[in-house]
Amino acid sequence: MAKILLTGGAGYIGSHTYLALIDAGFDVVILDNFSNAKPDVPARLEDITGRPAHVYEGDVLDRAVLEQVFSDHTIDGVVHFAALKAVGESVEKPLDYMQTNVGGLLNLLSAMDHAGVRRIVFSSSATVYGDTDIQPIPEDHPRTYTSPYAFTKIAGEQILEQLPDDWAVGILRYFNPVGAHGSAMIGEDPEDIPNNLVPYIAKVATGELERLSVFGDDYDTPDGTGVRDYIHVEDLAEGHVLSLKSLLETGEGHTVNLGTGEGSTVLDVVHAYSEACGQDLAYKIAPRRDGDVAVLTARPERAKEHLGFEAKRSLADMCRSSWAWVSGQRRNDPN
Ligand code: WQD
Repeated sequence: MAKILLTGGAGYIGSHTYLALIDAGFDVVILDNFSNAKPDVPARLEDITGRPAHVYEGDVLDRAVLEQVFSDHTIDGVVHFAALKAVGESVEKPLDYMQTNVGGLLNLLSAMDHAGVRRIVFSSSATVYGDTDIQPIPEDHPRTYTSPYAFTKIAGEQILEQLPDDWAVGILRYFNPVGAHGSAMIGEDPEDIPNNLVPYIAKVATGELERLSVFGDDYDTPDGTGVRDYIHVEDLAEGHVLSLKSLLETGEGHTVNLGTGEGSTVLDVVHAYSEACGQDLAYKIAPRRDGDVAVLTARPERAKEHLGFEAKRSLADMCRSSWAWVSGQRRNDPN
């Protein structure tokens, strides 16, 4: 059974990928510093899978903990989630972002090379495409950064492109991951007031926040509000499994978008969430948010051609799963 290391594996996408990998028959080790993950996530993963989770609490900047992981386990591949990922915060703390996101990747790659592990899936982002009118966006679109966060993702991709041919690298560019696991036992769990749309709407639905501010209704879109390509986090997790299988089986790398190819406006999401939670959701139209683009949707075909990946779940599924998670409808049978 192949064994996979997930850096940042206790986080939102990492924990869902953990479950998808276990389902697919992999053995999995988690390294996480829990800076953006609740301490009880491993216990919840154990409840869902019925098996112990191998978890190391540590930072990818800590070479000693990385050496310990590679010494304790024969790792066949790595998925590198551990990074800082808030666009706005990166503008305030660019050095923290470069240290963690670029320095952490370099530290990980060095430890992997030393251990002879040369299969890595890299968590990248549609943010590498910058602001573009070319929609849906193809993977060969030029990269340009509009924030220090985006810079660190482009830098990470370019570092990985320098590796010799005995490495195989999967670069996965996420669009907008939302939703929660079917068990409703794990999901997006932001510490304070969310920046992102769906976790914010979720807190309006639970009554923790009063109303949503819709950042602009004067974009050139069907209802004037921003359009994004929302992808269910469980589809995204399954995309990671297919990426790893491809690297391990072929030794060849790939760079693919992980999105649905479908765009939804902010108000589409509000309406879908309202359906899911059975209540009207208060919102007001507010000024545009700095840095936002009007439309961001993926050209999804390459992931299907190269990995056999296709997102299956709908916006309604995403909202239903998010509502089940935030409203505490924990279920032990996730299917
Ligand atoms: C989605 C839409 C907003 C909040 C960000 C990062 C990106 C990636 C995913 C890391 C936009 C609107 C939002 C709100 C709103 N993260 N909105 N009111 O900005 O597309 O992407 O998260 O990789 O790098 O940039 O996601 O959820 O913040 O916004 O109207 O309170 O919802 O204007 O149109 P975004 P988002």
